[in-house]
Amino acid sequence: MSTPVKVAVTGAAGQICYSLLFRLASGALLGPDQPVELRLLEITPALKALEGVVMELDDCAFPTLAKVEIGDDPNKVFDGVNLAMLVGARPRTAGMERGDLLSANGAIFTAQGKALNAVAADDIKVLVTGNPANTNALIAMKNAPDIPTERFNALTRLDHNRAISQLAAKAGVPVTAVKQMTIWGNHSATQYPDVFNAEVNGQNAAALIDDQAWIENDFIPTVAKRGAAIIAARGSSSAASAANATIEHMRDWVLGSPAGDWISAAVPSDGSYGVPEGIISSFPVITSGGTWTIVQDLDVNDFSRARIDASVAELQDEAAAVTELGLI
Ligand code: NAI
Repeated sequence: MSTPVKVAVTGAAGQICYSLLFRLASGALLGPDQPVELRLLEITPALKALEGVVMELDDCAFPTLAKVEIGDDPNKVFDGVNLAMLVGARPRTAGMERGDLLSANGAIFTAQGKALNAVAADDIKVLVTGNPANTNALIAMKNAPDIPTERFNALTRLDHNRAISQLAAKAGVPVTAVKQMTIWGNHSATQYPDVFNAEVNGQNAAALIDDQAWIENDFIPTVAKRGAAIIAARGSSSAASAANATIEHMRDWVLGSPAGDWISAAVPSDGSYGVPEGIISSFPVITSGGTWTIVQDLDVNDFSRARIDASVAELQDEAAAVTELGLI
């Protein structure tokens, strides 16, 4: 077996991590031949609960789990880490304004960005799942000036998977028949899942479905509001599916995306598709050799353009708000 890859995970005593950590430890990220060392960060009051999670990890006796360390100091927990999954975030509570949410999360992601900058390994890749994910990733990125900006991503893979599942159900095909799905923009209700560039069994999905009313009134809102529907049904937010998406994003980033397809990932914009530089927005992305590239030259029709622009405008608003708060 090779040297363990050090994987940092924040929010480790939370809901998502109760799924995520066991899959990471069992080899779901990097395969059965690559041991991992888990570095788990929590806030001090949650360390006791995290100790219980670690006991359960021990009790699984996973052959690929080389070591687990826990702590509440990012400068220690992130020391030498190769991959960081930033899941922990401050949730929006009743009466909290957007500015309060952004500043509470700003405090978390400025500190974590600085710590990664100071102590992470040279090959660090950072994936932010904690909401507001795109803007939290932007804050971490801006606070880590020595880490190349392309090493910061935010998660829209769950939205991508949700869109594939909804389209497959509508077309009456297995999910494997759906390719080239794209989520554009923010991981929020303004996100735009694009069927105009997607394919079902090699055919253009929008042409095959031929039902604009379904796309506008059913598909897009179902995907964009799926998180709220799960809270309404389950009484708590999506956790196992978010953990799954976090693993899939990082796995594809490290090992490469599937041939003949692309994935959705929120990455620092290079100006592609008219999305201004300076924000972290979701695009169609291909990954290979540990790097990502935005798929170019897709057709963006007027319907898509208006929706992408609206979501990008929201991201620009969030970036302006955190700039005003002095967080970036
Ligand atoms: P949770 O509330 O169960 O767990 C969050 C954990 O983060 C808590 O244990 C908390 O103590 C910890 N935490 C808070 N501040 C921290 C800090 N500074 N350092 C380390 N840990 C810290 O929440 P859950 O369900 O696990 O969700 C986590 C985040 O993921 C939320 O922000 C949620 O909105 C987001 N999410 C994102 C999705 C996406 O697709 N991007 C999908 C689903 C959830």
